Amino acid sequence: MYLKSLYVKNFRNFRAIELDFEPGRNLILGDNGVGKTNLVEIVYFLSTFGSFRTYDDRDLLHFGESFFVVSGEYGDVEVKVRYSDEKEVFINGVKKRRLRDGFGTIPVIAFTSGDLDIVNGSPARRRRFMDIGISLYRRPYIEMLSLYNRAWRQRNSWLNQVKTGRELGAVEVWEEQLSRYASPIIKARVEHVNKLIDYAIPLFYSLTGQELKISYKEGGDYSNLGEQLRKMRDREIERGYTLYGPHRDDIVFWVDNHPAKTVASFGTKRALTVSLRMAQARILTEVRGEEPIIILDEIIGELDKERIGSLSKLMSEYEQVLIATAREDIRWGGNFNVYRIENKNGAPVIKKDN
Ligand SMILES: Nc1ncnc2c1ncn2[C@@H]1O[C@H](COP(=O)(O)OP(=O)(O)O)[C@@H](O)[C@H]1O
Ligand SMILES: [Mg+2]
Repeated sequence: MYLKSLYVKNFRNFRAIELDFEPGRNLILGDNGVGKTNLVEIVYFLSTFGSFRTYDDRDLLHFGESFFVVSGEYGDVEVKVRYSDEKEVFINGVKKRRLRDGFGTIPVIAFTSGDLDIVNGSPARRRRFMDIGISLYRRPYIEMLSLYNRAWRQRNSWLNQVKTGRELGAVEVWEEQLSRYASPIIKARVEHVNKLIDYAIPLFYSLTGQELKISYKEGGDYSNLGEQLRKMRDREIERGYTLYGPHRDDIVFWVDNHPAKTVASFGTKRALTVSLRMAQARILTEVRGEEPIIILDEIIGELDKERIGSLSKLMSEYEQVLIATAREDIRWGGNFNVYRIENKNGAPVIKKDN
């Protein structure tokens, strides 16, 4: 399935758009700053109800506006998100009680320049990479995360209260919940990382000829987290913070046996993030039985010719690929639908080449 149409009101520099998309490869061209990334950000937002560039939805409001609406037709499903103070999600016109009930209705995997943070950034960035990757094919995981986070906050607040001399109810309740909700989270993450290993390692080798290793770093003693939490209670009261659990998980990448974060070059890190995203796209296809829409925001222009060739071969597996770039020369064999964004009197105008 593919994204057939897009409707937008007040999202970033777009006041109003109605646009039809085609299956296959869609090239979004235009000068720097014209709104190419904003356009693909809308497609990503329709999938995950969040941006790949900001955690604050207010950044997405057209300057000075108080609401935005985006909607897209994917096969015969319409997904609509409306934001003003709060986000509301409608699937085929019916409002979802919780956002997560509509999460990932449109499967999208985006390759963006910000992906370098998966290698360079904090463990939280890598957990987010896993969490979104998993949530796109397993919605109950989102609920487990939110239940876990609630128990985690409750236990932290208990630790802090005790520190200040106030006694609260039994902490055992929160510890029991922490271990209970941790276990499906850990299981899903281990599975996801194992699948990343299966897919990303050969992809990375084909792009670089280098050997990649990926490992899941547990944020606690997962053979018995409950016991660990009990034992650590006194020390944690000092800190006012729960030290062990999935909120401390991480993934580590090695290239030719060196830690990628500190040793790999820019080009190698880019090839790594491309392999990871490609692996997530394959996992989605495998688990959902449905290909994701692929977004490539600029990164293709960073690769050398040979790697562009390999990447384009990999891309041709997918039903719909959206490529945002300022480079006119990024084309390879076969057909492209070309959309041009131009700035007319300070406002973007999108035209399709015929
Ligand atoms: N909330 C917003 N409201 C209006 N314009 C915005 C908003 N956020 C970003 N912009 C504008 O969008 C433009 C950048 O768009 P972007 O999609 O990043 O460009 P590019 O085509 O280079 O990818 C800038 O001109 C910026 O001022
Ligand atoms: Mg851009």
